[in-house]
Amino acid sequence: MSSTEGAPQIAIPAHLLKGQKALVTGANSGIGKATAVALGRAGADVVVNYVAGREAAEKVAEEITASGVRAAAYEADVSDEDQVVAMMNRMVQEFGTIDILVANAGLQRDAPATEMTRAEWQKVLDVNLTGQFLCAREAAKEFLRRGVVPEVSRAAGKIICMSSVHQIIPWTGHVNYAASKGGVQMMMQTLAQELAPKRIRVNAVAPGAIKTPINRSAWDTPEAQEDLMRLIPYKRIGDSDDIANAVVALASDLMDYVVGATLYVDGGMTLFPGFATGG
Ligand code: BGC
Repeated sequence: MSSTEGAPQIAIPAHLLKGQKALVTGANSGIGKATAVALGRAGADVVVNYVAGREAAEKVAEEITASGVRAAAYEADVSDEDQVVAMMNRMVQEFGTIDILVANAGLQRDAPATEMTRAEWQKVLDVNLTGQFLCAREAAKEFLRRGVVPEVSRAAGKIICMSSVHQIIPWTGHVNYAASKGGVQMMMQTLAQELAPKRIRVNAVAPGAIKTPINRSAWDTPEAQEDLMRLIPYKRIGDSDDIANAVVALASDLMDYVVGATLYVDGGMTLFPGFATGG
């Protein structure tokens, strides 16, 4: 299966987010990690949030500081209100403020609907949806307190919700996950509507199949890869950097007039590839 492996890395303009402070939740692996590193490359100071795996998170923070910016790893469970509030307070204390929130932390607990436990349903909703809400709420409070600082950004703050193609594509065996991402879509749009008059931009990135630990079973055998390629018109699996680059662009003033949008980064997965023939 082709990927971007081996292709030269795309250079991120080093001053794009200079002087901005970013928080990325779930940033010790996968898409969150790549996003945190990319924000650092763009000149932002970065808080790397994690819930388990301190060593990995500290390594990510270390990698980010190689870009000449500040970084730190903060432990917090995004589905725990007190921990989210404490994390945001700590960031304001140690970094001065927050300019960019990437609400990325998410998980899957897959099961056929008739076998899904209440706990599996609840866990996914708690982390993927409630967790994003709590982080967005706390970030928005700080954006409102501080307001626009024109030398830093045209916006008072930017919130980027990590959604999924499954905010619109139903997904058998994953009803909890699909429901959580459908919720993220409407949460994002409502927050965008509510906060836009305060110059806060809320948007979402909706990844398709990205090669990360969350979907290993979709790419780790040749048969799985073949199945997957039927769903991707662009005929390659995505890399975490594909998502990270989109987040950096969306967070920057290049996209200052983009409010309440979902940017699908999916190689065309949402284009109903089954209809490439027939219909
Ligand atoms: C899921 C992955 C899946 C992809 C495309 C993502 O949101 O987390 O497991 O491969 O959607 O179906």
